[in-house]
Amino acid sequence: MIDQEVQRRRTFAIISHPDAGKTTLTEKLLMFAGAIHIAGSVKARKASRYATSDWMEIEKQRGISVASSVMQMEYRGHVINLLDTPGHQDFSEDTYRVLTAVDAALMVIDAANGVEAQTLRLLEVCRARNTPILTFINKMDREVRNPLDLIDEIERTLNMATIPFTWPIGMGKQFHGVFDLRHHSMRVFRPGSDRIEQEGEIIQNLNDDALASRFGQNFTEARQEIDLIQGVIPEFDRAAFLAGEQTPVFFGSAINNFGVREILDALVDLAPPPGARRSLQREVPPIEPKFSGVVFKIQANMNPAHRDRIAFVRVCSGEFKRGMSLKVVRNGKEIRTNTVVSFLSQRRELLDVAYAGDIIGIPNHGTLQLGDTLTEGEALHFTGLPFFAPEIFQTVEIADPMRSKQLKLGLTQLGEEGAIQVFRPHIGSTLLLGAVGNLQFEVVTHRLQHEYGVDARIASAKYQLARWVTADDPSELQRFIDSNAHRIAYDAVDAPTFLASFAAELSVAQENWPAIRFHKMREHA
Ligand code: G4P
Repeated sequence: MIDQEVQRRRTFAIISHPDAGKTTLTEKLLMFAGAIHIAGSVKARKASRYATSDWMEIEKQRGISVASSVMQMEYRGHVINLLDTPGHQDFSEDTYRVLTAVDAALMVIDAANGVEAQTLRLLEVCRARNTPILTFINKMDREVRNPLDLIDEIERTLNMATIPFTWPIGMGKQFHGVFDLRHHSMRVFRPGSDRIEQEGEIIQNLNDDALASRFGQNFTEARQEIDLIQGVIPEFDRAAFLAGEQTPVFFGSAINNFGVREILDALVDLAPPPGARRSLQREVPPIEPKFSGVVFKIQANMNPAHRDRIAFVRVCSGEFKRGMSLKVVRNGKEIRTNTVVSFLSQRRELLDVAYAGDIIGIPNHGTLQLGDTLTEGEALHFTGLPFFAPEIFQTVEIADPMRSKQLKLGLTQLGEEGAIQVFRPHIGSTLLLGAVGNLQFEVVTHRLQHEYGVDARIASAKYQLARWVTADDPSELQRFIDSNAHRIAYDAVDAPTFLASFAAELSVAQENWPAIRFHKMREHA
């Protein structure tokens, strides 16, 4: 029973550069899977995306993103979980953590722009975990780049073999459709976005001479391109795909509903069901009868008066049943799960059962932290939740010293949520905030004020980079800390961090202290 449920699950996220078409494609996937009523609100999120420095907009975005952060749909007897990632690149830390909770990723590329900066960054995170990647090349209804050029760029910049499953015939006004390279057929393009056509027109006999005159020069050219690539491109190898070395490529136009069904089919047919997850103690297979799960995201609720939060838990094994009591392995606390929510169909309805690959939301008041493992009792610690070395630093002080307790509470909680990283210096008492994007500071000052009543003053700090430091010999680490006391700070879990104002300072320290390791990323254990 558990085995069957696991086998029919697919959990994935979309990675893309802003504007490539993630929102549009998300809506269309939901539409094709019959969850149409959700589509409107996905769009709504987009509206709030641009005005990023406006508080109200940030709040709105937070509110909407809770609701739409996990979308579940059924397609061909499969349960597909789509995890949303924040649109703004300043929240990329959050995105990295979401990517630890998926089994596959869908890379959306704007055919006019090719591989863009943010896609590259997100893809690196996927590569580090060998996450299989499907590729959708979007906006073929526009004047875009040559498809040969595009797949060549993906291969070169992302260092992955591209295996086209479809191939476009023309582009822009002359976009006629795609060849299905597996089934040797052609799907004819028809613009239009309001209705899903069941099948559309599919041409089986590609050798029909009438086709060249119907679709013109583009048809002949596309066939030549196929001949060209088929000589050099390897066969699709599922093992290589699962290892993140090959990516199946699909061409289409999300706004025109074209190529969307192929993506859903690929998710079902190619993407893997949930697999075993690594913990410090052992590998945990998804079909184990006992429940286990890991917190990969924490979102403060919209109601500051209650200060409750939702912990997003990826189910790793077993069967979740509402009401069951679970143990937080970090501190041994028991939690009852009577009010656990699923994200199905956008209403946060109560959830009764869930299996590996599903995401459950557990409301709590701070009991659950990022990286926490939940079990029925076993002491397991899932690994792999990354924290990235901050790239921007600010000091934080308060106008009213009487509020310092609130400041500390606020920063601790926001730090636990992953909104910002908080460092306590080895010498001195001025707290240091670290972030990957500037917007994180704005959100934190705003939330300190509204949720904790603290008027915080943020000022730029002299640091430029941070590295977590470790050493095999604890006394050597201590010696390093003592000798560099003015550059050492401790993070939320008291891990020592070396701070530098210039890259050169880091290289000098690395040269002088060969026994010390400097880490750009810390994994929550
Ligand atoms: P994002 O979430 O990745 O940032 O992208 P989003 O879906 O919001 O799409 C960005 C823009 O690209 C939108 O246009 C959207 O309509 C357009 N788009 C998406 N898919 C296609 C496609 O297949 N073909 C074409 N031609 N355009 C596409 P916009 O002008 O920013 O917004 P809107 O006014 O159209 O909603």
